[in-house]
Amino acid sequence: MQRRVHRHADLIVDAIAAGRVRSRIIVWFHICCTLSVCAACSRGPCKLGETVIRSVLFVPADSEKKLAKAPSLGADALVLDLEDAVLPPRKALARDMMQAYFGGLGDHSHTWVRVNDLSSGETLKDLARVVPARPAGILLPKIKGPQDIAVVGHYLDALEVEHGLAQGSMRIIAIVTETPEAMLRMGEIARQAHPRVSHVAWGGEDLSAAMGAGDPRTPEGAWRPMYEYARNQCLLLGHAMGVEVIDTVYINFRNPEGLRKACLQSRYDGFTGRVAIHPDQVAIINEAFTPTQAERDLAQKIIDAFAGGAGAVSIDGKMYDVPHLKAARRLLSS
Ligand code: COA
Ligand code: MG
Repeated sequence: MQRRVHRHADLIVDAIAAGRVRSRIIVWFHICCTLSVCAACSRGPCKLGETVIRSVLFVPADSEKKLAKAPSLGADALVLDLEDAVLPPRKALARDMMQAYFGGLGDHSHTWVRVNDLSSGETLKDLARVVPARPAGILLPKIKGPQDIAVVGHYLDALEVEHGLAQGSMRIIAIVTETPEAMLRMGEIARQAHPRVSHVAWGGEDLSAAMGAGDPRTPEGAWRPMYEYARNQCLLLGHAMGVEVIDTVYINFRNPEGLRKACLQSRYDGFTGRVAIHPDQVAIINEAFTPTQAERDLAQKIIDAFAGGAGAVSIDGKMYDVPHLKAARRLLSS
């Protein structure tokens, strides 16, 4: 499991390691500054040891067999799905099964629930059952803009009070590209930076369906331009908000090599994790989103080279400057 150390804290840790901070008073001063900066940023206060989600395995909440198997599959996060993987006549049954699942679960902190979207008429029925089950949070699909996140945020405020949960504890993974309306409002979602949103994710299939369009992928498996655009918008949004960014499903679940290549590309592009739909996809995703030892070694070399105080350094005949230093710190903190 990867460990997230917030970037501000990284600076302190690096400085201590490099022997640049010698006084305990200075260390405490840095920590206090860090906490106040973290408290002001959209992610909320820094949680040392908080984990980055690499693999997010979807489990249809109406499948007894899949629910039973899910906890042993090694996914960083599970999502019990009440939405698209469950047909309308089985929604009520899926809610019952979701509730029973949490009833038998010890640690709830890695298990999320995807609720139905606000236009479905099912969202409140879902939330009324989901919040008392105390999952890590919810996935909110098919948002049309920041107002949908705000509305669900208010529902969660009320339900947290009703069920004695800490205010703001239910986090939201917002799926931000499934409607044309949301695609036109990315900047507003970023400006709102709702404090419950801890991750953003994207999907192409629902956007395509909303527009009456065809397969979002070419016959060769590449995203068509509209969906490449959606993917990029999601990436920019996540990084503008300072939250984790989850790449969408790789539907050919019998093609492990294709998934591995796609995941390496995702991480290269700046995604922090990826959706899985099948047990065989989990280990591939976890591995692809874990930096290799060679990458970690190079990152450490870059950080060490900057300890001398220069703004640009050379390692093995290549120039590295501040963006490389930032990337190295980020990699080592993941
Ligand atoms: N979670 C937990 N267990 C799963 C699983 C999942 N998402 N997908 C498959 N399994 C289990 C199966 O039940 C089967 O268990 P068994 O060995 O005890 O019989 C085993 O893993 C192997 O499954 P397999 O036979 O290869 O696949 P399948 O034909 O049963 O299912 C899918 C294929 C795609 C229908 C299934 O993987 C699935 O439902 N995925 C989730 C879909 C979803 O949630 N979509 C919405 C989000 S995009
Ligand atoms: Mg969908």
